[in-house]
Order: sequence, then C-alpha cells, then structure tokens
Amino acid sequence: MIVTVSQAADIILKGGILAIPTETVYGLAADAFNVLAVKKTFEAKGRPADNPLIVHISNLKQMHLLCDDTPEIADLITTSFWPGPLTIVLNKKQTVPDVVTGGLHSVAIRMPDHPTALELIEQTGPLTAPSANKSGRPSATRPEHITSDFGKSMPILEGNSPGLGIESTVLDLRSDTPLILRPGSITAELIEEKTGIHVLPYTSKSEGLENSPGTRYTHYRPAANVQIIDHIPTHIEGNIYYIIHSSTDSAPLPNVYNYLGDFDKLAQDLYDHFRQADHLGYSQIMLEELPDDKKKPIISALRDRISRASS
Ligand code: TXA
Ligand code: MG
Repeated sequence: MIVTVSQAADIILKGGILAIPTETVYGLAADAFNVLAVKKTFEAKGRPADNPLIVHISNLKQMHLLCDDTPEIADLITTSFWPGPLTIVLNKKQTVPDVVTGGLHSVAIRMPDHPTALELIEQTGPLTAPSANKSGRPSATRPEHITSDFGKSMPILEGNSPGLGIESTVLDLRSDTPLILRPGSITAELIEEKTGIHVLPYTSKSEGLENSPGTRYTHYRPAANVQIIDHIPTHIEGNIYYIIHSSTDSAPLPNVYNYLGDFDKLAQDLYDHFRQADHLGYSQIMLEELPDDKKKPIISALRDRISRASS
C-alpha cells in the first residue's frame, strides 16, 4: 500500500511503522524517540535486540538530538558525502533510547539522498530505519519485496525505488583513525580523496569490528545456494540461475542474466535476483566473480555482499 508523505507522517506521529525508500535500499521507519514504535520494527523484522539501528536525519540541526558534540572530522566528512550512502558512528547523547542502539553508547546516523524520505523526516524528526526485510533475508529494493516479507498491509512511502541497491557504508568516527565497519559504495579511498582524512578500509579481520554488531549475523542471503564461479561454463544447466558479466554472447536464455560489465545495474538488481531465484524455486545460483577493480567503488561493496551470500 503506497502512502503520501503526509499520510506517512501521520503514521509515524501515531507511533506506527512503514517502509520508506532511500537511495540504497528500503528502510523500515519508526520515530527514533518512540521506544514502542522502534520495538515494533525489531519485532516485524525478527531482528536480534542487540543489533542497533541507523538513525536517519534530514538536516544537520538534527545532529544535536543524537550527539552532544560532533568531532571536526565528522563535519568534514558529512559536508562531502551527505545526503548520501554513508553512515557515521559517534558517541550517543544520553537521551537516544537504548533500544535504538542495542544498548551501545554509540549511535549510527545518516542523511539519505532521497527526496520523499527527506521530506518525511523534515516533518517527523529523526527516524530509525533498518533495511526493510525479514532478518537474514536480502534487503528490499522493490516495493514487492516489502509486500512479500511483511504483507500487503505494510504501508510504503511514495517515491522512486532505491537506485543504488547496496546498503550504506558504515564508518566509525570515534577513534583517531576512522574505520569502515561495513563496506559500501563510499570507500576509504573516496573519503581520503575528498577530505584528506585517512580511513582504515574494511577487512573482515579489522580490530574494532567487535563494535559492529551487524557483522555477527548472516545477511544478504537467499534460500538458494550461491556459488561464485571464475569462468562462465560452456554448458549452461537449465536448473541453475546464472548471473554473469563478462560474456559478449547475447543469445538470451531465461535463466542467464548478463550484465556486460554494468556493475551499477548489477548492484541495483542483485537482491531482486536473489529473491526471484528463490521465488522461482532455483536451489542454486551461480555468480561470475567480479573483478577486484578498486577504481569502481560499487564493486568492492558488491563483492562483500556476494561473498557473504555465498559463505
Ligand atoms: O543503506 C542503509 O544503511 C540502509 C538504509 C535503509 O538506510 N539501512 C540498513 O540498516 O542497512 P541495517 O539495520 O540493515 O544495517 C545497519 C548496520 C548494521 O550492520 C548495524 O549493526 C550497524 O549498521 N550499526 C548500527 N548502529 C551501530 C552502532 N552504533 N555501532 C556500530 N554499528 C552500528
Ligand atoms: Mg539489513
């Protein structure tokens, strides 16, 4: 059920929850300062209570509701990348409810680059929004993904579906050298290039990841088994779902999706493929390995999500 910004604001002010589009993936929004509403998002998702939520804001004045003071590097980084797919982690203000942060003393904040989401937050104030999927399922990037996980009665804010398709970069700004806790389309290189601030890139073995509760849980995973292949097989099996990018052979087959090197489009479609493969009853997805191309920021984020889906 699609709702307008003013209908959505009404739902939020009454303590309800709804799905909202952002530029990355859909979020399941609640008033960040309404404990009961925030709890409803945990319940609807089946999300463990110790996995904290990102608080979404629409203007920098709202930062004061979430942290006592923002370090200078935060100002530099947010000036360069907000609104956009970057989440920053800072020490939280005492008044931010513990349910939001899973009991942590830090809070994750981002300003999404999406017109209707920003319009809504201007009216309601800060909104928590985990990705709008059942816990452990791939994130939602199309309205039908929300309906499939939460039923037809879940309201969905009007506006374009997410254009990026991969969740935001999560950047911890609480130590001298910022650390990426979750890779996304904004990479350490990009942040250094734009701001001159040295950032520790994400590695699964990074120290400090114990500060990122989300990394403890499985994510982005379809029911089908995902296998990464290093070349396209000469014989295509009818009962396997293929996602490839390097073939120039354009003979169309219903179970082969060929991206011809368009990784932005692949990011946009990845979770839809995972869900579609499940829906169509495929038990096996074969995904051609992506090149390790540092110049294309979306690729490192895609590689991360694909390797999590396959492990
Ligand atoms: O693009 C996105 O970030 C989307 C859209 C809706 O904004 N949201 C999203 O939320 O992906 P979620 O809840 O699925 O993932 C949030 C991640 C989790 O890995 C969580 O552990 C981490 O952010 N996180 C949240 N608060 C944190 C905190 N205080 N410290 C460290 N990590 C935190
Ligand atoms: Mg999620």
